[in-house]
Amino acid sequence: MPQAAIYREYGDSSVLEITDVPMPEPGPGMVRVKVAYSSVNPVDSKFRAGTLSDGSPLAGPTITGMDLAGTVDAIGEHVTGLAVGDRVAGLAPGGAAAEYAVTYAAALVKVPEDVDLKVAATIGVGGSTAVRALGLAGVEEGQLIFVDGAAGGVGTFLTQLAIARRVQVIGTASAANQEHLASLGATPIDYAGDWETAAREAAGGRTFDAAFDLVTGGKVEALRRLVGADDKVVTLLDPEVGERGGIIVTGLEPGFENALQEIIDAVAAGKVTVPIAQTFPLSEIARAQDLSAAGHVRGKLVISIAG
Ligand SMILES: NC(=O)c1ccc[n+]([C@@H]2O[C@H](COP(=O)([O-])OP(=O)(O)OC[C@H]3O[C@@H](n4cnc5c(N)ncnc54)[C@H](OP(=O)(O)O)[C@@H]3O)[C@@H](O)[C@H]2O)c1
Repeated sequence: MPQAAIYREYGDSSVLEITDVPMPEPGPGMVRVKVAYSSVNPVDSKFRAGTLSDGSPLAGPTITGMDLAGTVDAIGEHVTGLAVGDRVAGLAPGGAAAEYAVTYAAALVKVPEDVDLKVAATIGVGGSTAVRALGLAGVEEGQLIFVDGAAGGVGTFLTQLAIARRVQVIGTASAANQEHLASLGATPIDYAGDWETAAREAAGGRTFDAAFDLVTGGKVEALRRLVGADDKVVTLLDPEVGERGGIIVTGLEPGFENALQEIIDAVAAGKVTVPIAQTFPLSEIARAQDLSAAGHVRGKLVISIAG
């Protein structure tokens, strides 16, 4: 039987175990992927801890992780456009940290031969969220944006996608990531200081066209001051932004069916590079999730499964 990283109850990372699971079978519209790599997102820890549940107990053993890359191994009914042997990457909401995972064909894209599957495994949540956030804010060539948390998982994609569209990016990171953020093409600001003043100075009198809260929430007032309008503040986390007419990215917005394709194309074209902070074996996924949950990863953490 193949192995997977599962949890049987909500809790801290100690609830994770590597165990044998039945070989999953792809239903209609689905494929089975022989997983080479998975990558870690903060949401993995949130699901595992139960903070995104409605208070009900876990329904049953659950495979952790959402991002994967690998090779199509079996095809369900009504799947078109993918064949056994195709290199693919994307999202497996039913669990990605496993030797074999099933997911909807629509949640995958083909990976060009010259893109490493290890890199491709990072695009699912972070990349598609970045495409959504930029799209919902209507960011266009020539604009100026502010990004809080620009060197993290989502920020790495969003910053580089924006710069590839000839958008000027002023973004925050810790002192340790200032140089790294500059290397992505953004003007870096240390979030530990008076970042609002520093952002205004870096903008040189221009008003920001959009401000992205990718990290903390609770900054809505300052972000609003930077853009001068509630509806140009975009958040992944802060409900107050929504209450004030700003944009909340939920991951469920229609109209972004090509988000994964846009990211993999940008990676293949060299417009987006993905710093991989660390790679862990499946047996150390608990350590990787703890590191992710601490909130200071530069780029992405990868789990090597059959890479
Ligand atoms: N709504 C959605 O659809 C959606 C989708 C994806 C993610 N999310 C959520 O969005 C958040 C970010 O995700 P991610 O994958 O980008 O996380 P991540 O990879 O952990 O990145 C976090 C980034 O935040 C920065 N940071 C930490 N403390 C900060 C502070 N006080 N001020 C400004 N920046 C700070 C870190 O920079 P340093 O390392 O330099 O400290 C790091 O680069 C997570 O909570 C995630 O669950 C939501």
